[in-house]
Amino acid sequence: MPARRTVDWVYPLALLPASPAPAGALATLRRRAKACHACPLWEHATQAVFGEGPADAEMMLIGEQPGDQEDQQGEPFAGPAGQLLDRALADAQLQRERLYLTNAVKHFKFQPRGKRRLHQRASAREQAICRQWLAAELREVQPRRILALGAMASRAVFGGKFRLTARHGEWVTLPGGAMGMATWHPSAVLRTPDAAGREQRYRELVADLRRFRGAV
Ligand code: URA
Repeated sequence: MPARRTVDWVYPLALLPASPAPAGALATLRRRAKACHACPLWEHATQAVFGEGPADAEMMLIGEQPGDQEDQQGEPFAGPAGQLLDRALADAQLQRERLYLTNAVKHFKFQPRGKRRLHQRASAREQAICRQWLAAELREVQPRRILALGAMASRAVFGGKFRLTARHGEWVTLPGGAMGMATWHPSAVLRTPDAAGREQRYRELVADLRRFRGAV
């Protein structure tokens, strides 16, 4: 395993955060992120949802932003997308406990509609402001492999021109030497309207996860 870098840190991100990554170990960062008011998203969310997993995880999975369940429970991928991700991880023989799982944006953004809270995508500005926390997690964990789930995380890691449809499942060498890959977001699998299309996307997600694990 290559030696960990503690100086000359290079972000394995094509889109840099709007401000430098806060300092501190993961527990400190989690506490500070919970008190983050750097953009307006904190106002209506229940709590910031910070990443979870071993501080020395070799693999990091980056989702988009917390949904309704994650906002309430304070954990990433705790709702329906997380259940699908768990099934896909099991099918790819990856153990969730050994992964560091996080999101590009840490607060739930939504539009109230009666009793429901309809998911809204964080703006490019909100994503850039929040990226300081992802950058700090990357600096602390220093994963050797990074998997971006969906378009928002793919853009942060590989840049605005990255096309998930054409390039999912492909290894890319990132600044600093980590290896990156992108795949479908579990929510995109769930949103695919027809059963055959859904099954196809799910199979592709599992195939990409297997490649990410190094099985193929
Ligand atoms: N979607 C995400 O991208 N992340 C979560 O934690 C939940 C749903």
